Parts: sequence; structure tokens; C-alpha cells
Amino acid sequence: NVFAQEEKKDTLTVATNATFPPYEFIKDGKIVGIDIEIANKLARKLNLKLNVVDMEFNTIISSIESGKADIGMAGMTVTEERLKSINFSMPYAKSTQIVLINSNSKFVKIEELKGKKIGTQLGTTGDIYSKDDFGEKNVQSFDKISDAILAMKNGKIDAIMIDQQTGENYLSNDSALKKIESPYVEEEYAIAIGKNNKELLNKINIAIREMQNDGTIKAIVNKYIVT
Ligand code: ARG
Repeated sequence: NVFAQEEKKDTLTVATNATFPPYEFIKDGKIVGIDIEIANKLARKLNLKLNVVDMEFNTIISSIESGKADIGMAGMTVTEERLKSINFSMPYAKSTQIVLINSNSKFVKIEELKGKKIGTQLGTTGDIYSKDDFGEKNVQSFDKISDAILAMKNGKIDAIMIDQQTGENYLSNDSALKKIESPYVEEEYAIAIGKNNKELLNKINIAIREMQNDGTIKAIVNKYIVT
């Protein structure tokens, strides 16, 4: 629909999943977080109005493919598999996976979780790695990590695999949780962009580089992550 596209030209529509503190989460009824602040700056640099659309994490890529969203910003890890359907900007953050368990749980090493039930957020790298390493049948995928945490407290699952900073965030707000460090590979977060949108990709890469060089991204991250 060419007409709709024309009308949307002054707007940057960003798909996200606001269940992922500190990158995107709901506070006082508003979507906030590192990605949202970066998106704001980005839109301003591109002279566009920002429109943030909250959706299931697992639908972000298809919403970009269908043109419903221009970009995805959701602490999204660059993977070979995803690169088959979308492009990624240059990375703007790094992460790894950690494992959350109930604080009264006896597990200390990740190997002890073989044969146990692992909870994940559907479609995330933690979901994919867990299924690879612990077997599909041992993994329960949730739409939201908060639902996985509830299930773990109710004894329905034994552990949760999740990105480090988000995991630490849930941990620091909940004394009923503790973590197992994991040996998982480093991941890089980047902005997802449609394959046929090379011009936007270039502009976004330039903007990210500027925001990295002038300290904008660092300042935003430091606001949310106390190290
Ligand atoms: N980094 C992981 C991935 O790309 C998890 C991202 C989850 N993000 C979110 N907003 N829920 O798969």
C-alpha cells in the first residue's frame, strides 16, 4: 500500500517488546529504557517522529518484514539465522546469557541442569541455546520472562536462561532469585532493519557511530546500568 507508506514517511516506527529491563520496560504506564532513549535520539537525528510499538518478541522480525515496523530495537542479538530475513545495524551493546534459579535451589553449575526444566522467552537466543543444549522437551518457552519467573517460583520449571543485564535486573529486584554464571558466548545487540531498506541502514549506522563517539550511548547506558 503505497499510500500508507507515503503517509508514514515522517515517522520512524520501532518494534519492541517491553518486558526486557533495562533495555525496554513499562514504567508508570510508559515504555522506557536504554533502547527507547537511543531510539528517541535516533529519530531526532533522522528528523523523524518516533512511534514505538510494543509486541511479542517473537513477532518483531516479521513485523519488519511486512513493513509494519521500520526497525526493531529490543536488545536484539545479531545471529546468522536472523540475518537471513533482516539486516542488522552496527552493534551498540554486548551481552551474554545467565541462568536464574530460586534462591533456595541447590544448583551451582549449569551442568547440573541437564534433564531439568529450563524456562526462556520464546524466540530469544536463550530459548535457542537452551533447546540446543538441554533438548527441546526440557525447555518451556514463555511470552514473558515474568511468567517464567512465576512458573519457577511455583516449582513448574527449575531455571531460566536470560540475557545477563536483564537477568541481573530481575535479580536485583527479587531476593527469591539467584544466578548461575554461564559460559555462553558473547552476544552483540543491534538494530534490526528490513533487507530492502539499505538507505535507512546506512543512516542508522552513521547515527550510531556518532552516538558512540560523542558518548551519547554510554551516558544512556550508565543511566540504567549501575556497574
Ligand atoms: N538478546 C536476546 C535475543 O536477541 C533477547 C532479547 C529479548 N528482548 C526483549 N525485548 N524481550 O534473542
